[in-house]
Amino acid sequence: MRIADIELFSPENLIDPYPTYKQLRDETPVYFIKEMNLHVVTRYDLLREAIKRTDDFSSKVDQFLGVAKKMMLASLPEAQQAEVRAIQSQLIELPPTMLTLDEPEHTQYRTLVSKLFTASRIRQSEPDVRTVVQNNIKTMLTKGTVDFMSIFAFPVPLEIIADRLGIPRKDREFFYQAAKAAATVLKISLASPDEVLEQMQLALDLQKLLVSLINDRHQEPREDMITILANTKLELEDRRLSHGEALSILNQFLVAGHETTTSAFGWGMLALCDNPEIQKNIRGDDQRIKTFVEEVLRLEAPIQGLPRLVTRDTELGGYPLKKGDLLMLRYGAVNRDERQFENPDQMDIDRHKAGLQMSFGSGVHFCIGAPLARQELCIGFSELLNHFKNFSLSHARRRPVADPSFILRGLPGLHIQYDAIDRTASV
Ligand code: HEM
Repeated sequence: MRIADIELFSPENLIDPYPTYKQLRDETPVYFIKEMNLHVVTRYDLLREAIKRTDDFSSKVDQFLGVAKKMMLASLPEAQQAEVRAIQSQLIELPPTMLTLDEPEHTQYRTLVSKLFTASRIRQSEPDVRTVVQNNIKTMLTKGTVDFMSIFAFPVPLEIIADRLGIPRKDREFFYQAAKAAATVLKISLASPDEVLEQMQLALDLQKLLVSLINDRHQEPREDMITILANTKLELEDRRLSHGEALSILNQFLVAGHETTTSAFGWGMLALCDNPEIQKNIRGDDQRIKTFVEEVLRLEAPIQGLPRLVTRDTELGGYPLKKGDLLMLRYGAVNRDERQFENPDQMDIDRHKAGLQMSFGSGVHFCIGAPLARQELCIGFSELLNHFKNFSLSHARRRPVADPSFILRGLPGLHIQYDAIDRTASV
């Protein structure tokens, strides 16, 4: 295939982008898609450089996500467009907060919530994370074959983030439904008109729930994320967050913090099913489980790419870029760059410096939830391997393929079979 023929975002390529990524890295590591004014960065060193050059490449890309939403709206029949607009008019507008801001505005929001993710906070949360994991394992114990995505990979990170936020038990069912709808934003895949309307209504109801919780926490503070957002003041401006700002941050935790981890659980389980020897070699070995998790994240970046806005005429790796163009940082491609990682398409549970994978980004926007995600994944796989053996793909189903999504790379389903380990026998 010639470079000019590449359709990076065609469904086939989204399902298996890796051969194309390799070709791009070797031939045109900053690849311009004219119709989209988009430059796709696929080489490790160039992506790191781009992330550092925050004056040239801005995170203020709300517009970019807005275009996708507008496209979705325009694709609806007239009548439904009117219904969507009616719901939209009731939604509190979300100002940019962390992900889509540059310094110094970005820093004051980030500082506000960073205290929730310190090393000591993460250590403290270990028993709670383990409890959620073990509860979900119990539901697997009674079965020998399951859809791993719906029984474990989806609920575990969701329950953990719901605990962190402080969502009351009685609202959990609704919250889980609304979270599912919120995640579709990252998928940017086509939804039917009815689905779009349902998602919008859920988004509105979720806003109402979160605003009422914020108001409650003004009166009765607790040890949770909503309390911090409700009561801590922004340092530079000496004021509390507006409802819009608090909702914007909560939304990011929900969207960025949930399905990403779900996706990594899915890819990790698929790797275990494909490699019985890895199951044996990492069971009970915390260090190797850590490396395994980094390798899963490296080989299948849950967020395949994110955009940056070019702020002035400049260049990257000698490729010219115009003010107003977009860069697409393709984490999924740089993680398999042979200039950075030896045998990049192979999982290596003893890889030296596996943590250099870029799936959590880097620089000022480095994923704030990375320590939590790593903890969830390490505890999750460690407990799964303590309780079960012989994970394999269900014979009755076809091999799963990735959702053909632009940004979030995940498995829609993963039917597996396994045997329980008789823990009484081994003690
Ligand atoms: C495997 C799981 C995860 C992956 C792959 C992931 C990936 C990323 C990436 C690539 C970025 C950088 C964005 C950029 O440079 O523009 C990011 C930022 C972020 N992530 Fe994660 N994430 C994960 C889990 C989480 C979790 C568990 C949370 C929250 C509990 C979270 C919350 C955030 C937030 C709030 C930001 C924005 C930080 C900022 O702009 O300063 N993420 N994540």
